[in-house]
Amino acid sequence: MSIINKAAAIGGGVIGAGWVARLLLNGIDVSIFDPDPEASRKVSEVMKGARRAYKQMLPGGLPKEGKLTFAKTIAEAVADADFIQESVPERLDLKHRVLAEIDLYAPANAIVGSSTSGIKPTDMQVAMKKHPERLVVGHPFNPVYLLPLVEIVGGEQTFPEAIEVAKEIYASIGMKPVVIRKEIEAFVGDRLLEAAWREALWLIKDGICTVEELDDIMRYGFGLRWAQMGMFQVYRVAGGEAGMRHFMAQFGPCLKWPWTKLMDVPEFNDELVDLIATQSDDQAHGLSIRELEKIRDDNLVAIMEALSRQNKGKGWGAGALHKDYTRQLAKLAAKKPTASRAAEKAKATKPVKKTEKPKKKTGKKKG
Ligand SMILES: NC(=O)c1ccc[n+]([C@@H]2O[C@H](COP(=O)([O-])OP(=O)(O)OC[C@H]3O[C@@H](n4cnc5c(N)ncnc54)[C@H](O)[C@@H]3O)[C@@H](O)[C@H]2O)c1
Repeated sequence: MSIINKAAAIGGGVIGAGWVARLLLNGIDVSIFDPDPEASRKVSEVMKGARRAYKQMLPGGLPKEGKLTFAKTIAEAVADADFIQESVPERLDLKHRVLAEIDLYAPANAIVGSSTSGIKPTDMQVAMKKHPERLVVGHPFNPVYLLPLVEIVGGEQTFPEAIEVAKEIYASIGMKPVVIRKEIEAFVGDRLLEAAWREALWLIKDGICTVEELDDIMRYGFGLRWAQMGMFQVYRVAGGEAGMRHFMAQFGPCLKWPWTKLMDVPEFNDELVDLIATQSDDQAHGLSIRELEKIRDDNLVAIMEALSRQNKGKGWGAGALHKDYTRQLAKLAAKKPTASRAAEKAKATKPVKKTEKPKKKTGKKKG
């Protein structure tokens, strides 16, 4: 059961709507603020996709959805929320304005998560004059309603307790929180993705392959390995019986040859954008973004379900979590909503205690 009574989503674009979907499908009421007049339509499109995916995961029926309310201001959205997720565009000045307002109007004990892809929480929480200690980065991956990973990053002013509560909150809605040990820009996931993306841009620009060929190289090859074991465990196995040490001895030296162009940035000009966008159009074979989203969601559910049957039925990696998550949702779906449910939830809620002193700082940043 979730430990959130009421959530607020500030920003309802690709990521914000994904959060809204995950929260509502967990039976949690959400209040959203987004100034885009199209926001309601866009969120309902994402909800449609999310419901469709969850129906495949839960053939016995979905839990009763939480209630979605569109607020006219940030103040109204956050007024009685105990968890707030900010997902506005990636600009520091905008994050500052929005977080300052959230901080001003949110209950003091509410946890504030930011979806930022790369801005350090220390640089964002300076705008929060009342309670900067409750800000964490909660960096998700698209589609938020299906992919379980959330990277949690604390800033210099974040209380360790806030990180703990954030971990519990995200885990309670079926996610896999990974706390990043040191605060750096772009955290871990986007550091890796940016490195791969930069290299990919070179390969296309230099005419080595097309975007479709590059994607085939991923999805028919190492992409399949990564989804189930990640990078290091795959390399351990690739080292043969001698494992990781043998792998490192064999492939370590080639890092100096070097094979990659990682240090250089290709000029991001119109020519490069046109080349990639045109090849991407060809690759899509006329499928719309919404059609591609459906295909993506079906595949993700299928992969997680396949992984949930591995390891003698206990599930493996994301599949083990998927098994627990679908079980939790099925239990919730079976539960009749009663008046006492809200009280039960309120009892289970464990916000950051304002009276609690932060644990003594060690001089190290929290991660
Ligand atoms: N797109 C991704 O794959 C992805 C993945 C992880 C994290 N993120 C991060 O999530 C955040 C949002 O990205 P996105 O891709 O959803 O962007 P988006 O452009 O799809 O959505 C942003 C939304 O914020 C709204 N907005 C603008 N100003 C606002 C304000 N003052 N108050 C409330 N809402 C406001 C916009 O109307 C829009 O609907 C960014 O920080 C981004 O780095 C994106």
